[in-house]
Amino acid sequence: MYALRDKVIIVTGASSGIGLASARQFGSEGARVVMAARSFDRMQSLAPSVADSDHVLCVRCDVSREEDCRALVEAAVARWGRIDVLVNNAGVSMRAMFRDLDLAVLHRLMDVNYWGTVYCTKYALPYLLSSKGIVVGVTSIAGYSALPARTGYSSSKFAIRGFLDALRIEHLKDGLSVLVFAPGYTASNVRRSALAADGTPQGDTPLEEGRLMSAERCARLLSRSLHRRRSRTVVTPLGHASVWTRRLFPRLMDRLTFNYLSREAGSPFK
Ligand SMILES: NC(=O)c1ccc[n+]([C@@H]2O[C@H](COP(=O)([O-])OP(=O)(O)OC[C@H]3O[C@@H](n4cnc5c(N)ncnc54)[C@H](OP(=O)(O)O)[C@@H]3O)[C@@H](O)[C@H]2O)c1
Repeated sequence: MYALRDKVIIVTGASSGIGLASARQFGSEGARVVMAARSFDRMQSLAPSVADSDHVLCVRCDVSREEDCRALVEAAVARWGRIDVLVNNAGVSMRAMFRDLDLAVLHRLMDVNYWGTVYCTKYALPYLLSSKGIVVGVTSIAGYSALPARTGYSSSKFAIRGFLDALRIEHLKDGLSVLVFAPGYTASNVRRSALAADGTPQGDTPLEEGRLMSAERCARLLSRSLHRRRSRTVVTPLGHASVWTRRLFPRLMDRLTFNYLSREAGSPFK
């Protein structure tokens, strides 16, 4: 088992939702946690709930900026001299039909979700190779089975999976583990901050967040995947059903997905 005690773990998007819950989970297991996000003051106020001050570091980082990602890795190494696990979790979603979409929204999603993962992985990789550590991409079921009105989100998550699967094979003999971790619906802020056609946050969620999997449970499953050095984890029963139905019955899955999401509150297609 890969124990997290005293491991140095970077979590991007640690100011909210799955990232914050993961930081707390890792902290509770004795890891040294580097929290990264744009909301620095918020992270500072949350840090005591993650770990004692000698086991937590907050770094302001916009993952869409390459120089921020380089500085994040440098800050972790300056503090603890090593990196064992990088969790590329920072992400943003969207909801709009492609025909209505300002292309800047697609660029933004690729910049944060895909390029953020690439930049952080690029700068952390030498340290992860020397510690025989783990790089994680928090993708989505939408990275296995595409979702309508989420063209930018689905394509960014497919891209992360392709990138990480290729990286895993490149380093198959080097002791590096690469985990594609795909949550299903999880209670968080992701739907409220999702971008509308013009790039503004939609500000509301079409789901009853309280009925979804909790971010804490998602974080425990992520931790378990790290313990086992897994390559792939798909979370939630609906997530598993979606991935397998997509694989076995792709045309049926198109129709099921259309019907399911067209019934969502405020759906842009009917
Ligand atoms: N919740 C779900 O149902 C679900 C399902 C599948 C996959 N996911 C994935 O899970 C990950 C975490 O999302 P969540 O559900 O926990 O949503 P969330 O509560 O909205 O958290 C998103 C996190 O990403 C950070 N972030 C956004 N833009 C950033 C940027 N440019 N640079 C650095 N950090 C940035 C946010 O922090 P700041 O705003 O402070 O920067 C925040 O900490 C995302 O990759 C999401 O796609 C979520």
